[in-house]
Amino acid sequence: MMTSVLSRPHLLSMKQLEAEQIFHLFDLADQMKNNLYLPMSRQTFAANVFLEPSTRTKMSFQVAERKLGLETMNLDGESSSFTKGESLYDTLKTLEAIGVEVAVVRQSEIGLLDECKDLNLSLINAGDGCGEHPTQSLLDLYTIYEHFHSFHGLKVAIAGDLKHSRVARSNAHALEKLGAHVSFVTPPDWQDPSLTDEYVTMDEAVEQCDVIMLLRIQHERHLHSTSQMDYLENYGLTKEREARMHPNAIILHPAPVNRGVEIDSDLVESPKSRIFRQMTNGVTIRMAIIEALLKGEL
Ligand code: CP
Repeated sequence: MMTSVLSRPHLLSMKQLEAEQIFHLFDLADQMKNNLYLPMSRQTFAANVFLEPSTRTKMSFQVAERKLGLETMNLDGESSSFTKGESLYDTLKTLEAIGVEVAVVRQSEIGLLDECKDLNLSLINAGDGCGEHPTQSLLDLYTIYEHFHSFHGLKVAIAGDLKHSRVARSNAHALEKLGAHVSFVTPPDWQDPSLTDEYVTMDEAVEQCDVIMLLRIQHERHLHSTSQMDYLENYGLTKEREARMHPNAIILHPAPVNRGVEIDSDLVESPKSRIFRQMTNGVTIRMAIIEALLKGEL
């Protein structure tokens, strides 16, 4: 593959961000939240390339781009030349050639975007299979920071389908970098060797932790079907467990939520839940990420 003379900054993994860059994004997001930003004064094209399904990430990137005054374009797997076998690299090279400056990409292969980093457009990883989901992680972190104003000593339990969760991987590394203590709740079959922190039960987690971060069971990535019958009782957040959480503790979930599986349906919109707040924050943090990338600040 030929490389361009110029390349631009990308957001591909949480591992690339230092703590001060994360806090810089929070400052920018605060400005976005308070409408203290100037929409782009020159025509700038952003392309959303979604080869796996999405509601929140795809829609909130579109809102974020439009609020920033970008020209938004959308490409999916079914109605594009992916159906003719065109590679992701050649697709992104095409977008570069027609003047796209930011490409938001969701696709299923871990690390595939690394092969495209020399292109002269900024790439944002919007979820790469079971790999990472850095913009989800940043909106999760921003939501936690909005509530606690610090990460130091915060106890966070990440609970659910760890083996298949890109959100768990992105968040575990970042939370530890920021000074939080991370523990995991999961059935033995779903433990992930790359996530080596303490494993606890959900009963222990609700009594010890400030943040209960639930994950969706990703049935589409399982080779064998998983029984949902006992999951809530054994590993999920029931109303009885929620009643034992700290008064100031909060509940996160990246969504979509399997109501009644990871979490009792009544808790999804309960006072401790920040699940819809996460979605609102997803727009502001994605505006901040795009702004920082276009200004070369990441
Ligand atoms: N949280 C998340 O990534 O949701 P979508 O799959 O709907 O984008």
